[in-house]
Amino acid sequence: MAHKALWSGRFTEPLADIALKFSSSIDLDKQLFREDIAGSIAHVEMLSATHILTAAESRRIRTALKQIQKEIETGKFRLTAEHEDIHLAIEQRLIQKIGPLGGKLHTGRSRNDQVALDERLYLRSAIKELNKLIIQLQRVLLYKSEKYFGALMPGYTHLQRAQPVMLSHHLLAYVSMLERDYGRLQDCMGRLNKLPLGAAALAGTSFPIDRAKVAKKLHFDGIVENSLDAVSDRDYLLELISSCSIIMMHLSRMAEELVLWSTKEFGFIHISDAYTTGSSIMPQKKNPDMAELVRGKTGRVYGSLVNLLTVMKALPLAYNRDMQEDKLPMFEAVGTTQQCLMIIAQMLVHSTFDRHRMEEELRNDFLTATEIADYLVRKGLPFRDAHEVTGKVVSHCINHRMYLGNLDIETLRLFSKLFAPDVLDYIYPQKSVEQKKSAGSTSPHEVKRQIVHWGRVLRGRKW
Ligand code: ARG
Repeated sequence: MAHKALWSGRFTEPLADIALKFSSSIDLDKQLFREDIAGSIAHVEMLSATHILTAAESRRIRTALKQIQKEIETGKFRLTAEHEDIHLAIEQRLIQKIGPLGGKLHTGRSRNDQVALDERLYLRSAIKELNKLIIQLQRVLLYKSEKYFGALMPGYTHLQRAQPVMLSHHLLAYVSMLERDYGRLQDCMGRLNKLPLGAAALAGTSFPIDRAKVAKKLHFDGIVENSLDAVSDRDYLLELISSCSIIMMHLSRMAEELVLWSTKEFGFIHISDAYTTGSSIMPQKKNPDMAELVRGKTGRVYGSLVNLLTVMKALPLAYNRDMQEDKLPMFEAVGTTQQCLMIIAQMLVHSTFDRHRMEEELRNDFLTATEIADYLVRKGLPFRDAHEVTGKVVSHCINHRMYLGNLDIETLRLFSKLFAPDVLDYIYPQKSVEQKKSAGSTSPHEVKRQIVHWGRVLRGRKW
């Protein structure tokens, strides 16, 4: 049987069991018990500093709250479905322990501002953890870029072989992507780190509370000014889940490349046994399940974003119970993104690249065709004509079952008299990357510059 609800004064009938079950959020929001207690302690300290409670009352409440935290941590106080939510469960336990004094904790606040506070506190640590995991993944990618510096691979567009690139260049592209993710989380933190507590239910309170004091105690940069906004806003959570969705989109692309590259057809990477699984029927199989799961779990995070956007759509101000549905997308998006960042970094640590395979693929193809066209351009031919001539050379090779590397100068001169023996230099993949002159290109000089840059950035970054 349920407890008598703390709000039941005007009711003559208790909440139906199925209504309580339906509306209880404790299953999920119990994860916020530490944040809830930290918020209550700061609130009650402020209540005594402003003489709304006596120092002795405040002390007794704080001591009991700390005991409740221990009780939850040790499983002595069990948070079960008979509680409507984490806030009421803790308050109820407080009253059980210290009697009517416990009822003074809620002076000048409401669950509406309380839940927003708990979430902001939780997300603050979630962002710190996400930052740490992003930096770790960036460091793994940088480490691999240094280790394999010099290795060449086919670069792709349309998943068709395009031009030779350095493997390090490809890996560092992900470091740049993750850097934007990191920046987005920082932006999020800037807007999120404001105290909503003190908005009370929606209109503020007639008690002379000191919101700035609570903000300071809880290390917020300030308060959410408008009380209606403070309790009805979930932008901070939407922004975070959007950032998580973009992180997952990046990870899904990396995961997809790991899946492709570990196939026999590509053979560019060997993922360690510890991060792959076998088949229950085909003894020869070694599957890249972790990468596939990262790809798959991306759906959960996108789903969370659409879930919460839809919950918030067209809600009138201020708080509405619909908003309680924000917990599932919040925990889902944060938890999944953290797990995926972690597993993909570990998987990369335990993978080796096969540079010989990658370079073999470069030789047996036409990836340096653009170099031949550029050569003709340097000899004075307009680029479009150079493109046409080189296309004919490629078609000739295909018809004769050969690659650019098999061409001799006599054959090339059949297509253009501008070809001289030095053209053969440009056919080599190594030459192709070395020829690149533009900033940010795949030339060894530019890639080295990126490595040095990221080394400096990531070494100095603390979490
Ligand atoms: N469990 C609620 C939630 O997560 C807490 C706020 C409830 N407020 C209320 N007036 N019923 O949104």
